[in-house]
Amino acid sequence: DKYGVIMAGGGGTRFWPLSRTSTPKQFLNITGDDTMINDTIKRIRDIIPPERILIVTNKAQEKMLKKVICEDIPRENILLEPVGRNTAACIAYASLVIRKRSGDAVMGVFPSDHYIKNTQEFQKVLNAAFSLAEGSNKLVTMGITPTFPSTGYGYINFDREKVIQVGDKVAYEVIEFVEKPDVPKAKAYIESGNYLWNSGMFVWKTSVILSNFERFLPRLYGKLIEVEEHIGTPAEKEIIEKVYPSLPDISIDYGIMERAVDVAVIPGDFGWSDVGSWDSLGSVIPPDENGNIIRGDYVDIETKNSIIYSSGRLIAAVGLEEMIVVETADAILVCPKKKAQEVKKVVEHLKKMG
Ligand code: GDD
Ligand code: MG
Repeated sequence: DKYGVIMAGGGGTRFWPLSRTSTPKQFLNITGDDTMINDTIKRIRDIIPPERILIVTNKAQEKMLKKVICEDIPRENILLEPVGRNTAACIAYASLVIRKRSGDAVMGVFPSDHYIKNTQEFQKVLNAAFSLAEGSNKLVTMGITPTFPSTGYGYINFDREKVIQVGDKVAYEVIEFVEKPDVPKAKAYIESGNYLWNSGMFVWKTSVILSNFERFLPRLYGKLIEVEEHIGTPAEKEIIEKVYPSLPDISIDYGIMERAVDVAVIPGDFGWSDVGSWDSLGSVIPPDENGNIIRGDYVDIETKNSIIYSSGRLIAAVGLEEMIVVETADAILVCPKKKAQEVKKVVEHLKKMG
């Protein structure tokens, strides 16, 4: 049986003020279709039936999730974390739930806040990833051809000589996985031509990922394994509440992927963007003839290459270049495009102020 795990507990702070603690990015409709989490569900449910799609999120987001989520996802498939402990804990918990329900099943792990232009091609790659993971003990990643030396992604060094044919797709054995390198390293990786970006989606068997947890994150594994016998019983919630806060806060990328040995990558060319910050909106919404991306009511006079996003009130932009202006009911962001990554500092600052 194929399972899907959608990780939906992140903060999306670089999309402030549209994205808030109460409504992070995955619950927003940024692309104009549906919320990002529902887009994620719709992309995978031709391959994984909704009864086997699990959503892992923070307890604080439970209400909103239940309000927006596609109706065919059973309520018992929503796993609630009392506190966020990053993606390793999220994936380990979901893997145990799947093992309890179906034993050694193959599972795909998906971020909830990505944009994919070409669903059909994505599904072909995902099917290939499932069949590779089913027939081996590999941790299977999906790689994206890098376009700039981003320091926000994982980089996958693959071996061009070690090709694995999977139907009409090819996979490669992975030499090294490097999470979030610095700029000089990222530049060198891109120049070498032997690296792909990690898309953040993974496919593997529950037995394989759990033995990797046991080996590389034994403390996390040891604590969660004690929860296992209570999964699916009325005691689960209480025990999760007790154990979760003591779990190490580490991502799957640092915790497992950088250390694991049997990793493969399938390059995927399906128009992927993680829509990480306001300046990346151009990969999702096509700019107009002046290079502007505009949502909502606006008047623009000689404005170029800017992002103007109104949730209600009219925005008048006169002579702006390379700027971001975002209006919501209770906050306004004005920021040069090149500083888009710094927007998360606003959230940190507001948190400190209380
Ligand atoms: N349930 C849950 N709990 N979900 C979480 C948690 C958590 O504690 N923390 C993060 N998530 C969710 C986020 O909502 C997002 O959908 C996904 O997990 C990935 O987390 P990010 O925080 O966005 O990771 P990242 O962007 O820094 O890095 C990852 O994604 C990149 C591609 O976008 C890594 O896998 C990189 O290697 C990769 O290149
Ligand atoms: Mg991300």
